[in-house]
Amino acid sequence: MVRPMSPTDEPRPSSIPPETVLVRAREVRVRLTDEDEIGIDVGGEQLHAPRLALLLLDAFSSPRRVADVLAAVAGGGAERALEAEACVSHMASNGVLVLPEERAALGTRGWVRPSIHMLMLDDRGRTNGFCHALRTIVKPEDVVIDIGTGTGVLATCAALAGARKVYAVESSGIAEVAARVFAANGVTDRVSLMRERSTSLTLPERASVLVTETIGNDPLDEQMLEIVADAKKRLLTPDARIIPSAIEIWGIAVDIPRTVLERHVFTKRKVEGYCKEYGIDFSPLEEHRLSCSEPIMLDSRDVATWPLAEPVLLASIDMTKPFDTSISTRAGLQVSRESKHLGIMLAFRATLAPGLVLSTLPADFDPTSHWAHALFPAFDCLAVAAGAHIVIDYNYDRGTTTVRVNEG
Ligand SMILES: C[S@@+](CC[C@H](N)C(=O)[O-])C[C@H]1O[C@@H](n2cnc3c(N)ncnc32)[C@H](O)[C@@H]1O
Repeated sequence: MVRPMSPTDEPRPSSIPPETVLVRAREVRVRLTDEDEIGIDVGGEQLHAPRLALLLLDAFSSPRRVADVLAAVAGGGAERALEAEACVSHMASNGVLVLPEERAALGTRGWVRPSIHMLMLDDRGRTNGFCHALRTIVKPEDVVIDIGTGTGVLATCAALAGARKVYAVESSGIAEVAARVFAANGVTDRVSLMRERSTSLTLPERASVLVTETIGNDPLDEQMLEIVADAKKRLLTPDARIIPSAIEIWGIAVDIPRTVLERHVFTKRKVEGYCKEYGIDFSPLEEHRLSCSEPIMLDSRDVATWPLAEPVLLASIDMTKPFDTSISTRAGLQVSRESKHLGIMLAFRATLAPGLVLSTLPADFDPTSHWAHALFPAFDCLAVAAGAHIVIDYNYDRGTTTVRVNEG
C-alpha cells in the first residue's frame, strides 16, 4: 500500500458556466513561492496557480457569480480573461472554490478523504505500534497532545490509556469526524479538539506527552521535525515524552528497472522511440528531468530485488534532545553489482517506545505497511559498475528533501 501524495498535477479542468455562483472554500491557505505562481493548500492538498489566483481568491471571499468576477479581474483584456477563466476552473475542480452550499459541508479532498485514513488504519503495524506506545507511555496524570489527530485514533487511545487530558489537534476537515469518534467512545470529557495547525495553536497548559504520526513516504516531508520543534518550544513541558522519540532516515542504493524509470524519466531510448514514431527531433526532452527534489513513489512490495548494497544511515534525529530542523549529510557505500539506472530509495526507523521500532527498511518488510519509498534517480551517475563507490548527499529543509549521488 502506498501513502498517497498530494496531487499537484491535476488534469486541466473544463470551464465553468458563467452564471455559477462560487465562494472560497473554508480551509484555503496561500503560500508565496519564488516562482511566478502561488502555492494553495486546501484540506491538506497542495496545488499551484498563477499569481492572478490571489485576486480571484480575494474576489470569491463571499459568494459571487463567476461572470462578475471574471469581468472585474480581467479588466477588458482578452488574454487575461482566458487566464482568469482557466484559473477559476482549476481552483473549482480542486476544491479551492466551491458552491456556497458545499462550503458548510465536510469535503472529500485532501486529508478529509476516507481512503487516506483507511490506508493508515489498515496498516496494523503502524496503528497498533502507536497505540501500544501510548499504552506503555501514558500515565494517569499526563496531558497528551496528538498533533494531526486525523480520525482521532491516537487521541482516543491516549484517553482510554488513562490520560487526564488530551488535546487533539487537526487542521483539516477530518476534524469533524474525529469529534464524532470522541463522542462515540465517551471520551469528550477528557479530549479537546483543536481545529487548527499546531504551529499557530496555544494551549491552556503544557502537555507532558506528544504523539504525532506525521511521517511521510519521503519521511520528513510532512514536516514532523518542524512540528515537534515548535511543540517543544511552546506546547510541551521540558521533560515531555515524545512519540516517536527518534527517527532515522536510511538510504538504499537500488537498481531501478528500466520500465519503472521510463514511466517518470525521458530516457535516451524513450526519446529515440518518440523521434521514430512522430518524425520529430525530441532530443531536448532528455534534459527535461525530475529535479533532485522530486522523488518517484514506490510500493514497498515491488522493490525487494532492487537493492545494490546494505542500507546506509543518512540522518538520526533524537526528538528528546535539541535538534536542527534542516539536515545536510553525506554517506558513502559500495554497490555489489552493476546498474544502468542507479537510484537512492529512502526508508525510516522510528522509535515509538523503548524497544518498539516502526521500520520501512526492506529487512523489516511488512505487507500491511501503507508507506511507499521515495526514490531519487541518480542522474549524475545513472550507470555504475559492480564495486563502484558512491557518495550520497542528503539534504532536508522545510518540507523539501534533495538527494544527489556521485561516484567517489
Ligand atoms: C498521517 S495523518 C495521521 C492521522 C492519525 N493521527 C492517524 O494516526 O491515523 C496526519 C494528519 O495530520 C494533520 N496535520 C498535519 N500537520 C498538522 C499540523 N501541524 N497541525 C494539525 N494537523 C496537522 C493532517 O491534516 C492529517 O490529518
